[in-house]
Amino acid sequence: MSGRLALFGGKPELAQGIADPWPQFDQTEETMLLEVLRSRNWNHGPMCLEFEEKFAHFQDAAYGVVCNGGTNALEAACRGAEIGIGDEVITSPYTFHGTCMGILAAGATVTFADIAPNSDNMDPDAIEAAITPRTKAIMVVHFGGLACDMRRIQSIADRHDLVVLEDACHGWGAAYMEKGLGSWGLASGFSFQRSKNMTCGEGGIALTNDEDVADRMNCVINSGRPRFDRAPEGLRWGGNHRMTDFAAAILLCQLKRVRKQTDIREQNAAMLTRTLSRIDGIEPVDRLQEATRASWHIYSARYEPEEFDGVSRERFLQALRAEGVPAGGGYTEPVYRNPIFQNDWKAGSYRPFAWTTMDDAPDYRQLRLPNAEKACKDRIWLSQTVLLASEAKMTELCRAFEKVRTHAADLR
Ligand SMILES: Cc1ncc(COP(=O)(O)O)c(C=O)c1O
Repeated sequence: MSGRLALFGGKPELAQGIADPWPQFDQTEETMLLEVLRSRNWNHGPMCLEFEEKFAHFQDAAYGVVCNGGTNALEAACRGAEIGIGDEVITSPYTFHGTCMGILAAGATVTFADIAPNSDNMDPDAIEAAITPRTKAIMVVHFGGLACDMRRIQSIADRHDLVVLEDACHGWGAAYMEKGLGSWGLASGFSFQRSKNMTCGEGGIALTNDEDVADRMNCVINSGRPRFDRAPEGLRWGGNHRMTDFAAAILLCQLKRVRKQTDIREQNAAMLTRTLSRIDGIEPVDRLQEATRASWHIYSARYEPEEFDGVSRERFLQALRAEGVPAGGGYTEPVYRNPIFQNDWKAGSYRPFAWTTMDDAPDYRQLRLPNAEKACKDRIWLSQTVLLASEAKMTELCRAFEKVRTHAADLR
């Protein structure tokens, strides 16, 4: 470990950087893309069907419906579960706003339940406390690819006659009790947007084990067409959110890589957790024992300035970045602070259509969920691309954390 902090002119621990360019591809993607080009199946074709089957199987689900994004997949999951106008869906305040957009697009409204103190996932007790007579579903968010407490959440849902849906947008290859995320609830959604561990630029898939749900989800994505031609009323209304075979071809290649990449991220995350657990003032978020496989889309830890000589998180991150560690602070606000939840709907500004029909549309402006608020101030995030680094680079990254800790007093 070199002496002086890089922020003050010392040698950075990771002088050569750490993450390779993302997304990754090789000759297999190039060949497959040419195959689609020459086949002239440029629309929603056989590659899409092949990927649906393979990815559903990979996550231990029976059916998959590909589409052009995670948000659309979550809308399809809600509508597939027959959640719509007048219904409330409980979800997490510590998520990308796409989770809520999917629920709102289905016509339902959102209720937020706080996350647990040392987790990025919802607290089951907070979920139970948020249930109202209108609640129809709980949409868990397996944040960063660390599984939520599915057994407890399912038992709450069973007690209150609710459906469980999964935002598994970070869940590729991850599992709870050895069974794939996205196969636990009635329906789920995944994202393949460019930053994701598996990507085709923009894309998504909704999974389910229920044939009727799959039928309805297909209607949402594919201009009202049921998947198995068995929707009782035939054609339903639905937009065109179809994936193309170009995207599916890339995903078929990415799927072949994801298992090995997840192994690497698991190994590197374990090394990082061992290091950070020894550093006062940094605590990795909890991982349930039942989270048997994590995808580590985001590695998240809590930073406590009181235990770090009073150095602010921003100052700490500045020092870390100077050492060559591309760490960030994550979300700056819980999702209920997004403008869409802060407008005065009753004053007549544009609002999601669920709220146009409600006399008592929810007012989120006074909402304060303390654990989510705190998480927006104290988290440190590392992205999945960092966790693909070689063991040597990860060792340097761990040393950078230790170095900044050792010299924390210089940062005040
Ligand atoms: C947790 C979560 N949910 C939903 C989404 C929405 O996915 P997409 O951007 O593919 O629509 C994302 C995307 O970043 C996400 O991170």
